[in-house]
Amino acid sequence: MRTPFLAGNWKMHKTVSESAEFAQELVRTLSSSRNKLMVAPAFLSLPAVAAVLQGSKILLGAQNMAPEVEGAHTGEVSVRMLKDVGVNVVILGHSERRHSYLESDALVNRKVRLALDHDLEAILCVGETIEEREQGQVEDVVGTQLREGLAGVDPGQLDRVTIAYEPVWAIGTGKTATPQDADAVHAYIRTVLGSMYSTDAAQRLIVQYGGSVKPTNVKELMAMENIDGALVGGASLEIESFAPIALFDA
Ligand code: 13P
Repeated sequence: MRTPFLAGNWKMHKTVSESAEFAQELVRTLSSSRNKLMVAPAFLSLPAVAAVLQGSKILLGAQNMAPEVEGAHTGEVSVRMLKDVGVNVVILGHSERRHSYLESDALVNRKVRLALDHDLEAILCVGETIEEREQGQVEDVVGTQLREGLAGVDPGQLDRVTIAYEPVWAIGTGKTATPQDADAVHAYIRTVLGSMYSTDAAQRLIVQYGGSVKPTNVKELMAMENIDGALVGGASLEIESFAPIALFDA
């Protein structure tokens, strides 16, 4: 039985005080949820949100991380800095990082291994563009992102890995993959993971869907066999839209 994992990616929204205030509202509202929950504020807001989330059931996520432990890397934030402020989970390989900041699979892989080696959980994001989908390359693209993103990750570390399938064309567009289309890719993700590790490990793995998830579509997505959660952008920014998603109950 896989525990549903509902996560909010706040991207570059909310100031520090807005983030802390919103986190307080989430703690009050979501205490009864039986799901695994996470919010990922911007780097600057992490300490303030960490203080609010302490003792609650909501995990603290970061949206990115440097591929090195420390050094002369202007503008970067290290794994030790994230751990020091209480981050539990880090989102890596988000399509906005891959496409706007040209992050390669090799770079994402260095970050994934570093995060896991430092006992963080990692959400590895994968997903195809509309052109890749139209050219029938979904499995090629997603398979490569998985194999290269997880290269060198030990079987024993896999229980700290979540995969988020986020088709690029569905992010922030209001277009959601149909539950059936999403589920087919999620099933394929399990097949790839099964060939890399074991069927058992692939069955235990949490695979989130991301891309225009809203209170109105979360139920039908979560009803699919291989969809175990959601990585939510826009709808995670307001209590009215995030609470019904986070409180989702099968
Ligand atoms: P939206 O929910 O705004 O489409 O964003 C999804 C996403 O990118 C979450 O990481």
